[in-house]
Amino acid sequence: MRFNKRITLFIGIILLICLAGCGGGQAVLNTASDSNAANDGGISPDQFTESTKETDQKDPPYKKDTKIAVVVFSATGTTKAVADKIAVLTGADIIEIIPARPYSAEDLNYNDPDSRTSKEQNDPDARPEIAKEILLNGYTTVFLGYPIWWGQAPRILSTFVENHDFTGITVIPFCTSGSVDIGQSDDALAEQAGSGTWRSGKRFSGNVAESDLQKWINDMGETGPEKTLCLLIDNTEVSVEWEDNESVSALIDLAEEKPIRIDMSMYGGFEQVGSAGISLPRNDEQTTAEAGDIMLYSGNRIVLFYGSNSWAYTRLGKITDKNADEMAELLGNGNVTITISYKGE
Ligand SMILES: Cc1cc2nc3c(=O)[nH]c(=O)nc-3n(C[C@H](O)[C@H](O)[C@H](O)COP(=O)(O)O)c2cc1C
Repeated sequence: MRFNKRITLFIGIILLICLAGCGGGQAVLNTASDSNAANDGGISPDQFTESTKETDQKDPPYKKDTKIAVVVFSATGTTKAVADKIAVLTGADIIEIIPARPYSAEDLNYNDPDSRTSKEQNDPDARPEIAKEILLNGYTTVFLGYPIWWGQAPRILSTFVENHDFTGITVIPFCTSGSVDIGQSDDALAEQAGSGTWRSGKRFSGNVAESDLQKWINDMGETGPEKTLCLLIDNTEVSVEWEDNESVSALIDLAEEKPIRIDMSMYGGFEQVGSAGISLPRNDEQTTAEAGDIMLYSGNRIVLFYGSNSWAYTRLGKITDKNADEMAELLGNGNVTITISYKGE
């Protein structure tokens, strides 16, 4: 009996310890969240979730699931031309900020202190009306373009940013100007917007090269349509499964600069061959090439097969949407010109 009492007492103590432990755990949990709240100035769980999202967006990963808009105001077309290029490179929609009252040449006269733009830019509270509502629903990235007027963004940009909620959107400002840099205009717009993840903006000249824009877009972490090597035989585009090797990488580097055009010549009744104009890395192996195969011969010649031949080649790829008869039709009836380009699908 005494033994049983001892056991009961022992179990009781264990249970108490457990309960205290669990209760203690709960208390610790509460204390931790209370202290978070205290540290963050009483942030609520919802707010915490929101702010976590914002943090994630500061370092966007390689974005495939982005929906991009290029929103642009352009009084005389210079910024619009840059915006159009960005839209093509990123596969974005383009949305123009159209003023309810268009800017006339007199309005744009910066030599006249009484012109409309002079007055607007001198008045920090001026908010020119926008003609048409702009919807940003569903966009994850907005490239925001404008000209510099008196060192600042035109006031209609303030109208735009103050009337939109950029929560969940990465905003990437860009501008054109006569000469000055983007200055503080991007920061000023970010402050007026009060929401969204704003990147530092960049000034471009009206005739900026696409390659410079592409580099900037890449630096911003935005991606356009996925790029691939494309092969055109005269005017026929063919599907190619390219090899993953050094030779094809070198071909991509070349084609990225500009499309590679090669005049080919029929040879041996089974292939067309043409000079790549440059030596590519090679890793030749004795191979029996078949119709549709694309080979590198001697490191500097591209060979397309419509028949078969055995030689030491480096395989570049295979045309996948044509059978042997179709290849013979395409290549066996006279010399062709091929174009290899690197572009978005
Ligand atoms: C009212 C007005 C003010 C301007 N102020 C400046 C300026 O302060 N600094 C500058 O470099 N360019 C200035 N410019 C030149 C424009 O920024 C430049 O021409 C711009 O590329 C025009 O873009 P858009 O054709 O898209 O309107 C000004 C132009 C106008 C009309």
